[in-house]
Amino acid sequence: MPDITVNARSGAPEETSADTRVVALFEGEELADAQLQELVSLGEAKPGLGKVATDREDAPGGGRRRVLIAGLGKREELDSEKARVAAAAVAGKAKELGSVSLSWAAPDGVAGALVEGTLLKLYSFDRFKSKKGDSDSDEPEGGLESLEIAGPDLDPDEVERGRVVAAAQNAARDLQNLPSNVADPTFLAGRAEEIAAGHDDLELEVLDRDSIAAHGMGAFTAVAKGTDNEPRLIVLRYRGGENGPHLGFVGKAVTFDTGGISLKPGAKMSEMKFDMSGGAAVLEAMDAIASLRLPVTVTAVVPATENMPSGHATKPGDIVTALNGKTIEINNTDAEGRLILADSLAYAVEHGVERIVNLATLTGAIIIALGSTHAGLFSNDDDWVGEVEEACKGTGELGWRLPLHSEYADLVKGKYADLDNAPEGRKASSITAAEFLKNFVGEVPWVHIDIAGTAWGGTRPYVGSGASGFGVRTLVELARRAAGRP
Ligand code: BES
Ligand code: MN
Ligand code: ZN
Repeated sequence: MPDITVNARSGAPEETSADTRVVALFEGEELADAQLQELVSLGEAKPGLGKVATDREDAPGGGRRRVLIAGLGKREELDSEKARVAAAAVAGKAKELGSVSLSWAAPDGVAGALVEGTLLKLYSFDRFKSKKGDSDSDEPEGGLESLEIAGPDLDPDEVERGRVVAAAQNAARDLQNLPSNVADPTFLAGRAEEIAAGHDDLELEVLDRDSIAAHGMGAFTAVAKGTDNEPRLIVLRYRGGENGPHLGFVGKAVTFDTGGISLKPGAKMSEMKFDMSGGAAVLEAMDAIASLRLPVTVTAVVPATENMPSGHATKPGDIVTALNGKTIEINNTDAEGRLILADSLAYAVEHGVERIVNLATLTGAIIIALGSTHAGLFSNDDDWVGEVEEACKGTGELGWRLPLHSEYADLVKGKYADLDNAPEGRKASSITAAEFLKNFVGEVPWVHIDIAGTAWGGTRPYVGSGASGFGVRTLVELARRAAGRP
């Protein structure tokens, strides 16, 4: 998919040279242009959120052009999320009609969200198809080449930020969609290298199997034992400035989760190529944060490995020692995410992070509890989780906090070792997974985001049901907040 160029123009929206112009229609309001208002009066153009009507008008330079009338609901209720939804509806229509250049007359305060909704909606992953595009549709080929956001009080930085963040989210979706025979741990480390090479203040460190073991990461080592494909611990350090606390972003990147010796059933196992979604979001968010030159310090830690059964795989009952000295009984090799995160969280703490967010497709149970609408949030710190909740609201990547409690913590105590990675019974299994992780962050304020339900299979109109890149927008927003940006 070729990049769509994005620009901001502060002049009058109707002066655009785009082939398709978008006008916002709010409930209870009339359009200034009498010809367009006629469509509203006739009831053909509707103000409901996500409605799109098509008209034509004379273009300033001669000839005719398309006008899309986009419903945005009530003006006083407009927020970024609604703008993303409306932009996606418009983008879908523009694609269907064969628009090459699109210009939005942007209502106040949602310019960035309009860019996000458009770019996210037009994402496609067809690099393995011989015939590009949606072969079952009769949509015109080519697609949108440019997006303009126009308005009198436009903030060009907001438009640029929307572009950078949406591009990063789409890049995360690419990493998710790539199959595990392409996007293996070495490939992810290669992508991290590309990202680091693009920014002076980003520094990369990659640990291989031997150095992971030599560092004392017995839990990560145990998960990687079964695979012949080399694991990688990917560490990106961004030093853009000293504002706010030193942030630590940790992302689970199991490039394929078979379950290991505790083998998963075959149905839908192919979806386990998405088990690296947390790591993908962390890597691409770092690219966006560095591109935006936010004056903060962030350390990203992404443990990448396959989880495979083999003659040299970890077996149920095996006991290992994690980086922080805690011992773990591995009673289910399919509870591998918490093992690689255990060492990665401890590693981040060792490297001085002061606030942690980890993203992980950790438990099937979170899909049962929250579906694809909210990610699960778990935390040891009310203030920090409060900030993460605010960031989630602002970005439309919703999160809902679930409780931790000493009674849940008791469930992950081991019989023969300090901890059990998979307590028997399935009581509160998303929470017990979080309680397990809590053992590796010490006193550092930490939020675990379980994205098993939101990383793919969602229903948000601008991302659809495929890989979503969930988490990129929230991580960038957290870095912006740390930087003190409004
Ligand atoms: N990657 C899975 C969680 C998952 C399942 C994500 C389905 C998305 C869709 C994770 O490694 C896993 O297998 N978790 C187990 C834990 C259990 C063995 C304690 C689970 O949730 O069943
Ligand atoms: Mn698993
Ligand atoms: Zn997994």
